[in-house]
Amino acid sequence: MAARLREPASSLLLRVGLLLLVLFARSSESPLEKRTDSQRWTTPKKPPVVLIPGDLGNQLEAKLNKTTVVHYVCYKKTDFFTLWLNLEQLVPVIIDCWIDNMRLIYDRTTHTSLSPPGVEIRVPGFGQTYALEYLDPSKRSVGMYFFNIVQQLVEWGYTRDDDIKGAPYDWRKAPNENKEYFLQLQKMIEEMAEKAGEPVVLIAHSMGNMYTLYFLNQQPQPWKDKYIKAFISLGAPWAGVAKTLRVVISGDNNRIPVISPVKIRFQQRTAVSTNWLLPYAHAWPENKVWVQTPSFNYTALDYHQLYKDIGFEDGWMMRQDTESLVSDLTHPGVETHCLYGSGIPTPEVFQYSDKFPDVEPTVVTGNGDGTVNLKSALQCNKWLSMGC
Ligand SMILES: *[C@@H]1O[C@H](CO)[C@@H](O)[C@H](O)[C@H]1NC(C)=O
Ligand SMILES: *[C@@H]1O[C@H](CO)[C@@H](O)[C@H](O)[C@H]1NC(C)=O
Repeated sequence: MAARLREPASSLLLRVGLLLLVLFARSSESPLEKRTDSQRWTTPKKPPVVLIPGDLGNQLEAKLNKTTVVHYVCYKKTDFFTLWLNLEQLVPVIIDCWIDNMRLIYDRTTHTSLSPPGVEIRVPGFGQTYALEYLDPSKRSVGMYFFNIVQQLVEWGYTRDDDIKGAPYDWRKAPNENKEYFLQLQKMIEEMAEKAGEPVVLIAHSMGNMYTLYFLNQQPQPWKDKYIKAFISLGAPWAGVAKTLRVVISGDNNRIPVISPVKIRFQQRTAVSTNWLLPYAHAWPENKVWVQTPSFNYTALDYHQLYKDIGFEDGWMMRQDTESLVSDLTHPGVETHCLYGSGIPTPEVFQYSDKFPDVEPTVVTGNGDGTVNLKSALQCNKWLSMGC
């Protein structure tokens, strides 16, 4: 979810590093092409690495050709510029323009989401790492994301954009609306594996894990055996994230005080992926209450009612369009390593006053990494018994 890897970078790096060393050491066991015995004991090759970011986890660019704008200070016509992350746009008044460019419009007939008229969004840097190392092209530390991991890999002999590449995507949408992305990803993995003579290691963070699982679930097993060495999963919300409920109900300014939560809610609700990530009933007791108001206690079985009560029925349709994409948590079919954080207070239950939904909730926290609830991250334990 978050725009930063929540765990202290040092401990996460150490764990990713150790895993990669284990994978290097075994590299010579499963080369793409069979090696002869004499080659078998030469220095192991490094597996190529593909990084799949989480929600909000890579840059997005916009190009405008609008006939109307929400405020006279907003641009109508532009060339491509950075829409995410661009701190200059997240300030009063200008944020109204930003919201109007960032939002999606849901079409109930086609079940697809579109940018507003005159807004063209593109994802820069597919196959490169820059767009997920720093979310903000000015490389301000607030937008630092995969930089530490990429830098560590480079120090171990990797080369950016060659044997370590990024797979950014339009994270406002769920996999059902990103078909082209998965074709690009498949092609990139095949090319990297062929070039290196080694299958690829996928490293995903947060929602990127749900994308990766969806991708792997679509690929035939022989393809996975040939091209994927391992899947390293960091902080995966396998059963959703409680925090998304607050986002759709009352908005979440991520504690940036100048942004009004209820204002940014307008844009946040329209992101299909947010609705995709609401907690899934399967991981918790059925009667687990996530949202309390003076008149109703909402469980994961009450989402239709919840969407009605907050006046956002498009959200219920988005949820239905996406709920089954990975909810059965079918084994990825590759060697999978789940790394997750715990011990950090993580939003879990939201208590609203009678001003619901236009008010900030009281937040009850539970265990997790600060964003992802531990119980959600732990769902990959169900794959332990299945072997690989
Ligand atoms: C901008 O939009 C107008 C219609 O609103 C269209 O006629 C014009 O061709 C567009 N310009 C570009 C550069 O796409
Ligand atoms: C919601 O649950 C709490 C705690 O179990 C209970 O005290 C409260 O009466 C319930 N509220 C409603 C409206 O059912």
